[in-house]
Amino acid sequence: MEVRKIAVLGAGLMGHGIAQVAAQFGKYQVSLRDISQEFIDRGMSMIRNSLQKFQSKGVISETEMNEILARIHPTLDLNEAVSDADLIIEAIPENVELKKKIFSEVDGLAPSHAIIASNTSSISITELGSATKRPEKVCGMHFFNPPQLMKLVEIIKGAKTSDETIETVKQVAQKMGKETVLVKKDCPGFIVNRILIPALNEAAALVWEGIADPEDIDKAIKLGLNWPMGPLTLLDYIGVDTILAITNVLETEIDPKFKACPLLKQMVRARLLGRKTGKGFYDWTKK
Ligand code: CAA
Repeated sequence: MEVRKIAVLGAGLMGHGIAQVAAQFGKYQVSLRDISQEFIDRGMSMIRNSLQKFQSKGVISETEMNEILARIHPTLDLNEAVSDADLIIEAIPENVELKKKIFSEVDGLAPSHAIIASNTSSISITELGSATKRPEKVCGMHFFNPPQLMKLVEIIKGAKTSDETIETVKQVAQKMGKETVLVKKDCPGFIVNRILIPALNEAAALVWEGIADPEDIDKAIKLGLNWPMGPLTLLDYIGVDTILAITNVLETEIDPKFKACPLLKQMVRARLLGRKTGKGFYDWTKK
């Protein structure tokens, strides 16, 4: 199937970046939908900032920047966003009930040939597929933060996803300039988060147990393992609430050994979520 128009649902940290790479590298027509004008405006402003970075480095010209922006159509109207889309990429908050609701709504509004993909980090693709009458056209399309720079997309096959759906989504991801890996079984955390999240949880446990300071933990992993950023910086960067949500899914769905460190729970209760609230393991208001 040829994909011409993509709808991205959610203009947040991931959604804005996915919409941008679809319009920038994939040259697709993209509708970007969110539930409030404030979220749309913030998403479009993040896209403009990112495009300006590419422009200042000479990766794109000013004309190209304007052409990319013209391919992105922000909207509050779900029907307008998906009614002529060939591929819908959902990037709304990690809440299973919310996601199932939007999958069911989109199923009723999108053309019958359209594929519905989720950027979920941990929620069952099979369960999201079951909220629709087209589970063979539902799959996972998991981008990494920041989507504009990270090369990988995990493609996840739900229990009923067809091979044709996987092939189409793989071609779209490649057109967006991404490398793909196939997750053959729908298991929470897929590949990357199954390995990353326990590592971040352990970094938080080292702080909780008073074994080392955040700066030293990050320094150790950056210099000892050559990670581009330390695990606690990465935790702040992704969001402590997001990491806690994924850890909880790994614990309940795979094995109790993935139990979250109490510090993560405490930080979420105190709204110390990282960059997005200004404070987490580090103070971002001063950076
Ligand atoms: N758009 C365009 N350009 C951007 C950008 C954006 N959104 N963000 C940063 N850049 C550019 C900067 O302008 C900078 O350009 P120059 O080198 O020309 O100055 C360059 O990218 C590097 O940026 P920084 O100097 O700010 O910082 P950095 O060197 O540390 O690189 C990074 C940033 C690529 C994010 C790097 O730190 C990194 O790879 N970090 C790890 C990210 C990671 O692990 N992501 C996965 C998270 S897990 C996940 O997403 C899955 C999940 O489900 C939880």
